[in-house]
Amino acid sequence: MIEIKNITKHFGTKQVVNNLSLSVNQGEKIAIIGPSGCGKSTLLRLIIGLQFPDSGHILIENQDITQMTTKEINKLRLKFGLLFQSSALFDSMNVEHNVGFTLRENFKFSNDEIQKTVREKLELVDMKGTEKNMPSDLSGGMKKRIGLARAIAANPEIILYDEPTTGLDPILSTNIEDLIVKLNKKLNITSIIVTHQISTILRTADKIYMMHEGKLLEPETPKTIYHSQNKYIREFIRGGLTE
Ligand SMILES: Nc1ncnc2c1ncn2[C@@H]1O[C@H](COP(=O)(O)OP(=O)(O)OP(=O)(O)O)[C@@H](O)[C@H]1O
Ligand SMILES: [Mg+2]
Repeated sequence: MIEIKNITKHFGTKQVVNNLSLSVNQGEKIAIIGPSGCGKSTLLRLIIGLQFPDSGHILIENQDITQMTTKEINKLRLKFGLLFQSSALFDSMNVEHNVGFTLRENFKFSNDEIQKTVREKLELVDMKGTEKNMPSDLSGGMKKRIGLARAIAANPEIILYDEPTTGLDPILSTNIEDLIVKLNKKLNITSIIVTHQISTILRTADKIYMMHEGKLLEPETPKTIYHSQNKYIREFIRGGLTE
């Protein structure tokens, strides 16, 4: 369970997160939407302890990440899989080393076990046989899928997805959406999905939160969101078209 309590975050004089609270239960899939620059990626970085809030608390299974040492955070982070918005692959490593990175650095697996896991995860994201490719050989969509294979390599309990389907063609997008749902169902993985893509919101999330002025608005569901009582949500979903 993730419990965010009244966090704030400034960059210089700009307040990006303003007294934001959120609870995510084990196995829940939530989406966070909102305009570009509203603070969605920042929120994910705060949850995983890559940045710290100015005030407030973030509890991951009752452990407060704002009170931890770097060593404790690194350990806690092993529960997480993180798909970065930019994929953030290591350019100097081939696909196999990128996907197996966490396994090699943090767990005592043999080379054979790592190879087997990498092969399995690559198959899941439809990138079988690309072990020896370098990131520079891959398209943006392929990098995204390798990033996802890396995020799930160590079978995390919680996955944070930053724009998992943006930039993918519709078929790949659907594959990734199916994979998010499958991982959640099969392994009861808690998922937080940041996205602009409407199909992804509708197909993957139980609850949808819109970030607005540093806070999260009352959540919607895929059924209620088109008829939200909130005009910011309606406008966002309908692409700013007037009724
Ligand atoms: N490390 C940083 N230093 C200074 N400003 C930052 C930093 N990280 C984010 N910001 C600012 O915080 C705001 C929110 O950025 P963030 O990347 O969280 O937005 P976002 O909602 O993920 O946007 P997008 O949809 O474009 O990815 C932006 O104004 C950004 O410029
Ligand atoms: Mg972002």
